[in-house]
Amino acid sequence: MRNKQVHGAGMECDFLIIGSGIAGLSFAIRVARLGSVIIITKKTEVDTATNLAQGGIAAVLSRNDATINHIQDTLTSGAGLCNEDVVALVVENGPERVRDLIALGVDFVKDAQDSSGLNLGQEGGHSRRRVAHAHDFTGREIERALLEKVKQNPRIQILENHRAIDLLMVADEGSEKGESTRYCAGAYVLSGERTVEVYKAKVTTLCTGGTGKVYLYTSNPDIATGDGLAMAFRAGAVMANMEFVQFHPTCLYHPKAKNFLISEAVRGEGAILVDQNGRSFMEKYDSRKELATRDTVARAIDHEMKESGADCVFLDITHKDKEFVKKRFPTIYGRCLEYGIDITKERIPVVPAAHYMCGGVQTDTWGRTSLDGLLALGETACTGLHGGNRLASNSLLEAVVFAERASQYCAEHWETLSQRVFPPIEPWKAGGAKLLNEEILIHHNWDLIRRIMWNYVGIVRTVKRLQLAKKHMEGIFQEIEQHYRDYFVTPDMIELRNIALVSLLIIQSALTRKESRGLHYLVDYPEPVAAFVHDTRFKKKKGGQPGEIELC
Ligand code: SIN
Repeated sequence: MRNKQVHGAGMECDFLIIGSGIAGLSFAIRVARLGSVIIITKKTEVDTATNLAQGGIAAVLSRNDATINHIQDTLTSGAGLCNEDVVALVVENGPERVRDLIALGVDFVKDAQDSSGLNLGQEGGHSRRRVAHAHDFTGREIERALLEKVKQNPRIQILENHRAIDLLMVADEGSEKGESTRYCAGAYVLSGERTVEVYKAKVTTLCTGGTGKVYLYTSNPDIATGDGLAMAFRAGAVMANMEFVQFHPTCLYHPKAKNFLISEAVRGEGAILVDQNGRSFMEKYDSRKELATRDTVARAIDHEMKESGADCVFLDITHKDKEFVKKRFPTIYGRCLEYGIDITKERIPVVPAAHYMCGGVQTDTWGRTSLDGLLALGETACTGLHGGNRLASNSLLEAVVFAERASQYCAEHWETLSQRVFPPIEPWKAGGAKLLNEEILIHHNWDLIRRIMWNYVGIVRTVKRLQLAKKHMEGIFQEIEQHYRDYFVTPDMIELRNIALVSLLIIQSALTRKESRGLHYLVDYPEPVAAFVHDTRFKKKKGGQPGEIELC
């Protein structure tokens, strides 16, 4: 078995959902009334970015707030690139979707004093308190409630340790005008370590989350290797805005803490950023200080660290009531204590780290990608909500709003979608591939990619560094594509191939935007330029090298 790439029997379903975070689970629960659903997830069902989300979900829930405020905050944060219709749609649907989550059993923290009945948190870029939360483990609470619901539904199957390799794109001979077009009919899936199977579906939905693992330092879980983005690009989908990588300003800086976030809500409750001498510095950068948008705060910290040569800055919440801090942030308090830091008495060492991909597979307001039969939801999608910089706690919101929209689309078109016959699909061809017995070929490139991205394509960019990154990455990418052809596909090989491609896409996308806007700061072009008030839309170049893009 170890020396073989095995072919499995495969599966057929109405809905194939790739990923088990908030987007995938919410969509599954909604479409299960239409047909059979398979959710594949590459590790365990809770290995998702959702499960790590601390802050919460933003929505206009209180009488002290108004739709226009949330719209305006989102647009301001998005630095001129948000799609205004999409922002209005998401914000207007927000309160109802939060109520749906409550109805599904999500236990947000209550507050009888607020007209919403909820204790609403404050985060950077928000002009009002509007973040519904479950202390600092909001994502875990949402994931728990959604999984419970999914498991009660006999039409939904969750398969752990199943990872999609590539999408199945087939010709639709019966399309209009006799032309043959292509549509997505499912995916090739690696189940376990060695078995490749064909999973056919009438509707395939990418909910694979983000791509933080392309960077050396990230708040993301290990699964965030941009799999959905890479698969969609290889299949020919239109992608957008991949230069806009959000760096969270405050990840714990400790040799043993791999990817632990110190929620923005800590600053929302009054924590102050200080340098190694205990001096606050945010007032030098923005009048909103600690509650400026993330692009500003992350860049300010980066600047302070580079100027002083310090390894980190500090977040100080010691002036707040101890019992309040412990109760409001039990996870952060507990985890920091494990590392010997009592946050009620000591400052927390923090650094920025890659956190969120604002771009992705471009979708319309129904979650549809440019490829027939393929939807994308959550962080994988670029809906137009985030523009050049996502507003804190708008991501869980986007996921639930678009999961509902996509399910509405499927319900309205189910008569047609359900008629789709499963096409004959070629089984996976291992060709002359053999077992890779030199794991160093994987690990070396894995480290190299993440270092190049961190050093050359980080918070502050220059054209020179981006060009160098492109040159290095093209070589690495070609080498990995060759390994992919020569050796059996393994979980590590799939992820390496995907982070290499996604890195190359981020670099190429960044090189096309000759200005500074939102999260994309280019020293050579430090100001926004009116000619760039548009999305960076691209797809794979016809007749180009693998990984090469053409703007569209
Ligand atoms: C946080 O708690 O700071 C993360 C929330 C988000 O990324 O929106």
